Amino acid sequence: KAAAVLVFGSLNVDLVCRVAVIARPGETVLAPDYEQLFGGKGANQAVAAARVLGGADRVAMVGAVGDDELGKAVADNLVNEGIDITGLQTAPARTGCAFISIDSGGENAITVASGANARLDAAALPDGLLGPSSVLVLQMETPLAASLAAAERARAKGGRVVVNLAPVPAQLDADDLSGLLAPADYLVVNESELAAAAALSAIGGEEPGALATALAACFGLVVIATLGAKGALVAGGDGVHAIPALAVEPVDTTGAGDTFVGVFAACLSENCATAEAAERAVVAASLACRRVGAQSAMPTAAEIERALADR
Ligand code: RIB
Ligand code: NA
Repeated sequence: KAAAVLVFGSLNVDLVCRVAVIARPGETVLAPDYEQLFGGKGANQAVAAARVLGGADRVAMVGAVGDDELGKAVADNLVNEGIDITGLQTAPARTGCAFISIDSGGENAITVASGANARLDAAALPDGLLGPSSVLVLQMETPLAASLAAAERARAKGGRVVVNLAPVPAQLDADDLSGLLAPADYLVVNESELAAAAALSAIGGEEPGALATALAACFGLVVIATLGAKGALVAGGDGVHAIPALAVEPVDTTGAGDTFVGVFAACLSENCATAEAAERAVVAASLACRRVGAQSAMPTAAEIERALADR
């Protein structure tokens, strides 16, 4: 059956070290231990959406895991979250793995070994998962051509498309960007991704609100810029709208952006207006910074509602 939210993209296992200061080139730093957690921007977004929509296969994850033990564990984790994995592929490769360092301020540095994620093909996307009320969510840890094909298929079915330009692909050029955004309704970027997208689109300036507005006009979509502790900006149509973050003591910001994207898509699928969906997404992303890990820190719908009420 058609999914309310279909995430097409990456799945990883995260190996997380907490360090005082993140190692610079040539340096070695020691961490007391490490944790093995489930991650990957795509899978994180799917879990964030499922926590809001309450599982029951309303969220589907289409991606590629490896033919190894970690691949089975990654698939089982999604099933435990109530996510439909009928479109999950197993590739003859290792499951993607992210090596993450978190410093004492909650900032992180991440290296992703793509493994099976690099084998993802849009042919893996079962047609029945997409319908006119589906929201397709894309990120940039899987091949661009596959994401583009998935976006076009979602669009052809009348669904909406959310593109999260994270991370900005190293070789991305202006044509790739406009191809990717043509079938999109929403672009979600952090500050550096916003700057990169603007530069590729020959948009000058620095102020995030102005850049987001210009990008929104350029591609005829809504641009949402997530600004960390400063919350988010929504630009497009009727001007720029700022949404403040919740004041939290950040323990680990890993996955905060993914939480934003997943919750935003879930709220859109429930027919929330853009501003309301973005407000819930900002609150959820703030809550997700309070614990170590990406998925392990994501709130439920009830926790988001409580935080909104206390705001
Ligand atoms: O956005 C956070 C995610 O980025 C981590 O879970 C890691 O797997 C990397 O993909
Ligand atoms: Na976290």
